[in-house]
Amino acid sequence: MKTVPVIFDTDPGIDDAMAIIFLHACNNLALKGITTVFGNASIEHCTNNALYLCERFNIPAPVYAGAGLTLLGTAEDDYPDFVHGADGLANMHVTPSAKTQEALPAHEYLIETARAHPGELTIIAVGRLTNLAHAIQADNSFTTNVKEIVLMGGAVDVPGNVTQWAEANIIGDPEATDVVFTSGIPTTQVGLDVTMKSLMSEEYIAELAGRCGDAGKLLNEITPYYLNFYRGRTGENGFACHDSSAVAYAEDPSIYETKTGDLAVVLTGEQRGRTTFSENQHGKHTLCTRANSQALMDIYAEHLVKQYG
Ligand code: BDR
Ligand code: CA
Repeated sequence: MKTVPVIFDTDPGIDDAMAIIFLHACNNLALKGITTVFGNASIEHCTNNALYLCERFNIPAPVYAGAGLTLLGTAEDDYPDFVHGADGLANMHVTPSAKTQEALPAHEYLIETARAHPGELTIIAVGRLTNLAHAIQADNSFTTNVKEIVLMGGAVDVPGNVTQWAEANIIGDPEATDVVFTSGIPTTQVGLDVTMKSLMSEEYIAELAGRCGDAGKLLNEITPYYLNFYRGRTGENGFACHDSSAVAYAEDPSIYETKTGDLAVVLTGEQRGRTTFSENQHGKHTLCTRANSQALMDIYAEHLVKQYG
């Protein structure tokens, strides 16, 4: 039963797209809406891609466009086209035929939905935390109304993927991360500590693609570009399972080993964007320290085959 109300906050993004089709197939997660944020590409591209994916896969969730600038108002002048393509989606340059974005800004939708489901709403955040920071700053009730945030971002005991210290979603807006981490909202970090160790190999994708209909066609369209980047960077014939790991945690937390404590983000100096964690049984935060990667690959594949095969 899809009993857990969820908002997906995302910057699609190749791995974001893979996570959206996974989330739609989940057994426990009821996707209420999608909020977009700039990151892997501009806010216009990311919102366009979210609308296209919803339309193509009959995902009824409304799409709300969010921040195109950091919390402090800085524009991005260098989107990672070498990872996700100039349009964020492997240079497919897709266009939705009819679905359009909602009028409400993303952070207002986040506030309204949390208010409508006090103590129940899970926000799966797989981009910069700018929309969430705006919601926290705009409405005092937001922090108490949200049940939890599941964040793909950060790196505690492993190196970053943008700098030696910092992961992309955090270095993209450290001040927004700080607002979220100090807000008191229970937050689980599904960061590079686990996502870099859960590789989706070329063989895994090829085998799965043949079994899950149009979702498989999408995997064949978008993952070669992503794989090419990872192959060049790590030398391995597979790519890290980033955003779908956060969805998997929300769907079935037993896939992960965790610690309880307090997360923080470094805002200044060469370690800007680094996330740190101190263990403390009374802490508001959870850090994923290990993944059962086989269980993750299995749940991703089983859900896609069930929904689209
Ligand atoms: C994160 O950064 C983005 O490129 C991906 O979509 C993912 O959310 C990985 O560091
Ligand atoms: Ca993302």
